[in-house]
Amino acid sequence: MLMKIVTIIGARPQIIKAAALSRTIRACYSDKIQETIVHTGQHYDENMSQVFFDELDIPRPDYNLHVGSATHGVQTARMTEGIEDILLKEHPDFIVLYGDTNSTLAGAVAAAKIHVPIVHIEAGLRSFNKAMPEEINRIVCDHCSTLLFTPTQAGLENLKHEGFPFGNEGPYSIDNPKVYHCGDIMYDNSLHFSELAEAKTDIVKRQNLNGKPYILATIHRDSNTDHPERLSAIFASLLQMAEDSPIVLPLHPRTAKLLKTNLDKTLQEQIFNTQNINIIPPVSFLEMVALERHAQLVMTDSGGVQKEAYFFQKPCIILRPETEWVEIVETGAALLADANEHRIMEAWTHFKADPPRQFPAIFGDGHAAEFILNEMLQQEM
Ligand code: UD1
Ligand code: UDP
Repeated sequence: MLMKIVTIIGARPQIIKAAALSRTIRACYSDKIQETIVHTGQHYDENMSQVFFDELDIPRPDYNLHVGSATHGVQTARMTEGIEDILLKEHPDFIVLYGDTNSTLAGAVAAAKIHVPIVHIEAGLRSFNKAMPEEINRIVCDHCSTLLFTPTQAGLENLKHEGFPFGNEGPYSIDNPKVYHCGDIMYDNSLHFSELAEAKTDIVKRQNLNGKPYILATIHRDSNTDHPERLSAIFASLLQMAEDSPIVLPLHPRTAKLLKTNLDKTLQEQIFNTQNINIIPPVSFLEMVALERHAQLVMTDSGGVQKEAYFFQKPCIILRPETEWVEIVETGAALLADANEHRIMEAWTHFKADPPRQFPAIFGDGHAAEFILNEMLQQEM
């Protein structure tokens, strides 16, 4: 009998993550698993959504809820309503949820209330900072899940501390959940798409960065974009760093909008008049991988980009006070600099003089998707 799953995607990183599972289903499990893809429409610009379907060969969503942007409550409510309708119609064996966005939260609430078992991929991560909307989303999702797949050892430990059972027997349910440590599906993706990125994109050349040591930066966290003093500290640092190295900054639409209101006017002029800072629209995943592979250093507040810096053995300055990916800081490959100009410049000086050389395997073996699908198929339904 075919196992039926409904996959929820909505935000950029989830669309990219979903490529790993969908690809593996088509390659190895098409006779065992039928996947229905639901796009909530949380991200909708061409370069935040469609580009990934085209480039990463992700099947076209079976449903699109087109919820768009709104406040947390309104956006989550619209998605919850739409997802509930689809679950009632489709009767899947599992709903698959990724990460910690509002699309994840909506999927968790909709599914748990009508008893559809949840598979949470990227479970167990914690920042221990509940001011982050993502921290609320991931806690709710983990505690409503039946199968939890943690990408890292830290994720596993966090779930232990929260009282999740270990070594328990099936059948598994929301009240008897099963926790697995499986590695990171984004590591699967980075390995899979790495060579293709070299062959199919010329962004490094187009940005005139061939052979030059350059910095790749991304900024989108609400904790940075929504606070003028934090946003200005980050851009003041970029301005100083640009004296040493060119900077390429594919800008998230949230930041592009808030830059105009929240960034000090003089600084805005300086940033836009500096040749060495190249602010560009969001790039495709293959272009991002190419930019990461050739960069001297990555500076970001993104969860995904932090990890990819590590996958491609680049030093990373994290523009947050804490991270869920604690292992990359523990190895010395990344430094937490918050949105603090002094700490950012210290980190830059440190990495220029002494770039990290050790990148132990933290994120599995590149086969997390097979592991997850195999375990799902073992479940009694
Ligand atoms: C969301 C996630 C965040 C994730 C990020 C990945 C939540 C609470 N946050 O943040 O965890 O790291 O996605 O990128 O789910 N916008 C556009 N076009 C789009 C999408 C967004 O212009 O296609 C603009 C809108 O002005 C919108 C703003 O970006 O209000 C924020 O979008 P939203 O999806 O609410 O949150 P993100 O900041 O993208
Ligand atoms: N990414 C991309 N184009 C960009 C910026 C990021 O393809 O212009 C990819 C990046 O390589 C990573 C994912 O988007 O795989 C991370 O998403 P984002 O930074 O939006 O969210 P987060 O990971 O912080 O939730």
